[in-house]
Amino acid sequence: MLTADVVIIGAGAAGLMCALTAAQRGRKVLVIDHANKAGKKILMSGGGRCNFTNLDIQTSNFLSQNPHFCKSALARFTQWDFLELVNRHHIEYHEKKLGQLFCTNKASDILQMLLDECEQANAQIQLKTSVQKISPETSGFMLETSRGEVRCVSLVIATGGLSIPTLGATGFGYQVAQQFGHQLIPTRAALVPFTITDGKLKVLCETLSGTSIQDCVVSCNHQSFCEDILFTHRGLSGPAILQISSYWQTGDTLSINLLPKFDLLSWLPEQQRLRPLTELKTLLSELFTKKMATLICDLWFTNKPLRQLTNTEIKQIANKLNAWQLIPAGTEGYRTAEVTLGGVDTQNISSKTMESKLVKNLYFIGEVLDVSGQLGGFNFQWAWASGHVAGNIV
Ligand code: FDA
Repeated sequence: MLTADVVIIGAGAAGLMCALTAAQRGRKVLVIDHANKAGKKILMSGGGRCNFTNLDIQTSNFLSQNPHFCKSALARFTQWDFLELVNRHHIEYHEKKLGQLFCTNKASDILQMLLDECEQANAQIQLKTSVQKISPETSGFMLETSRGEVRCVSLVIATGGLSIPTLGATGFGYQVAQQFGHQLIPTRAALVPFTITDGKLKVLCETLSGTSIQDCVVSCNHQSFCEDILFTHRGLSGPAILQISSYWQTGDTLSINLLPKFDLLSWLPEQQRLRPLTELKTLLSELFTKKMATLICDLWFTNKPLRQLTNTEIKQIANKLNAWQLIPAGTEGYRTAEVTLGGVDTQNISSKTMESKLVKNLYFIGEVLDVSGQLGGFNFQWAWASGHVAGNIV
C-alpha cells in the first residue's frame, strides 16, 4: 500500500501548484489523475499560448455566491508571485491587452515549469489512475484506486469543473464534496459561445461565420463588456460574448452595441446632410465589411439614398446598430465552455486555507469550488492562488 502525507486528486493547474508548494515544504506528495497527461487544459489554454494571469486582479473579476471568498487567497498568492516563478524559469511572456499575460512561445512552457518544480521537490504524479472510493480514517483517508490502495493524512480535491469532458473533466469533485456533507451551488457552462436558432439570424450568423466586429459593447443583467464579437456557424462567440455568457441565463435578452463609437441618432442625420445621395448600404460598408453591410441592410433595413431616410427610419437604424436586442437559443454548453460556474459551496470552506470546515484535512481548490473568473487569466490565477494557500498548510 502506498502512503503519502498529501494526496491531491487532479493534476491540473491548481493540483500541480498545490503539489509543488507542499512538496517544497518537505511533505510527501502524491498527485493522482485519471488522464494520460497532466495539465491538459493548460496546454489548450489561450489558443495554445496560455493566458496565465492578469496584471490587474480584482475581486470583481470573479463570480461566486460569496464574492468575498476569493479575496484572501488572491492576496496571499498574487499575480506578482506567479510572475516571479515564471521569470525564474525564463519563460517569455507579453501583455496582449487589458493586462492579460500570455506566453510568447507556447502554453507548454507553463506546464513544464510546474512539472519541473514538482520533480525538483519530489512530488510524485501518477497518471491513468482513477479513484474508486474514499474512506475517512481516524487520522486521514484511505483511497481505493485503479492501482491499489493509498493512505494519506491530507486529501486535496483539485478535479476542476465540468467544462470540456474530452480534456478529462468530470463531476468527481462534486461527488466527493457531497459524500462529506458539502452543499453544491448549481453548475452551468460559462465563458461559452451562444447558439442562435432563429431563422433569419441563424442564416446571418452562418453566412458571416468567421467574421468579427471589433470593440462591440455587449450587455446583459447590468454587466457590459467592450470587446470583439465573432459570428460562428452556430451563433455568436468572441471575447465580449464569452464574457457576457457568465452573466446570462436562459431566456435573457442581450443588447449589443455594434458601433459604440458612433451615436447614430446624431451621426446619421449629419451624414444625410453631408452626402444625401450616398446609399445606406454604401455608408454601412464603411463601418462594417462589405459582405456584412449588405447582409444587415437586407435583413434589417431598406437600402436607399440617405436623403430618403425618414426620422423614424433613422431611429430604427440607430436602435438596431447601437442596441441590437437578441435572445440566444442557448449556449454551446460544457463541450466548449472555458469554465463552470457554481460548484462546491464556499460556505463550509476556509477562505484562508481551502480546508473543509466539516472534515479535517480535506481541501478543495481551483475550479471545483464555486469561484469562476472572467476571461483574461483570472481562472488560472484562482487556480494558482487556491493551490498555493492549500499547499502551504497541508
Ligand atoms: P483543471 O481542469 O485544470 O484540472 C483538473 C484535473 O483533474 C484534470 O487534469 C483532470 O484530468 C483531473 N480529473 C478530473 N476528474 C478526475 C477524476 N475523476 N479522477 C482523477 N482525475 C480527475 N483560464 C485562464 O485563466 N486563461 C486561459 O487562457 C484559459 N484558457 C482556457 C481554454 C480552454 C479551452 C479551457 C477549457 C479553459 C481555459 N481556461 C483559461 C480555464 C482554466 O483552464 C481552468 O479554470 C483551470 O484549468 C482550472 O484549474 P483546475 O486545476 O481547477 O482544473
